[in-house]
Amino acid sequence: MVAQRTPGELDAMAAAGALVATALRAVREAAAPGVSTATLNEIAESVIRDGGGVPSFLGYHGYPASICASVNDRVVHGIPSPDELLAEGDLVSIDCGAILDGWHGDSAITFGIGAVDPADEALSQATREALEAGIAAMVPGNRLTDVSHAIETETRAAEARHGRQFAIVANYGGHGIGRQMHEDPFLPNEGAPGRGPQLAPGSVLAIEPMLTLGTAKTIVLADEWTVVTADGSRAAHWEHTVAVTEDGPRILTL
Ligand code: MF3
Ligand code: CO
Repeated sequence: MVAQRTPGELDAMAAAGALVATALRAVREAAAPGVSTATLNEIAESVIRDGGGVPSFLGYHGYPASICASVNDRVVHGIPSPDELLAEGDLVSIDCGAILDGWHGDSAITFGIGAVDPADEALSQATREALEAGIAAMVPGNRLTDVSHAIETETRAAEARHGRQFAIVANYGGHGIGRQMHEDPFLPNEGAPGRGPQLAPGSVLAIEPMLTLGTAKTIVLADEWTVVTADGSRAAHWEHTVAVTEDGPRILTL
């Protein structure tokens, strides 16, 4: 069974998640040509601290910032920098986490700066659709890899709808979350259904599909954090922290 939280604990996680959502909204509103990813990081950190929370990424295994800002061929874990200025046509993924009253929220969004290539728009939409399908599989009686399978199936359906091919990034996925950001189990973004721990009311997972316009293979840069696509193709990343309830999936990062 994926660990079950009480209704009160889910409310506490939703409060942490709301702080993350507010930070992401502020980041998205501030993102524009000429704005640095370091500025976006400062905005997110201020929102989290003003809301009484603590940025969970900062200091995590030595990570030096409160968000990951992954631009274009960066998939995840891009380190914000004052030298990295956003430009028209960039495809930006922002991942953010916060701790409030000891509970974690974790969420990511992807958006374009100004007008973006239709392929990039389709990539981000497909990734979001894959996330939605994963969320819909968060129901009692399902198992962990029913969520994985839903993400994979929706990715293939999105390819048909958008008339493009997408790769599911290999070796990265979602995770359990609660009093720690990363808890068991690891949630693959593809695979056969019906395996792994059961989902029951109160089970919480961070669901985070990552898709690319090219290869599924990635490389970690010399900074030991930034994950880029091996072929330089662009990537998108969407994430929500989601609970199973008797009344259906509850997104905790709204
Ligand atoms: N929040 C990311 C995830 O979705 C992990 C970020 S790693 C950090 O699991 F070091 F930046 F915190
Ligand atoms: Co996560």
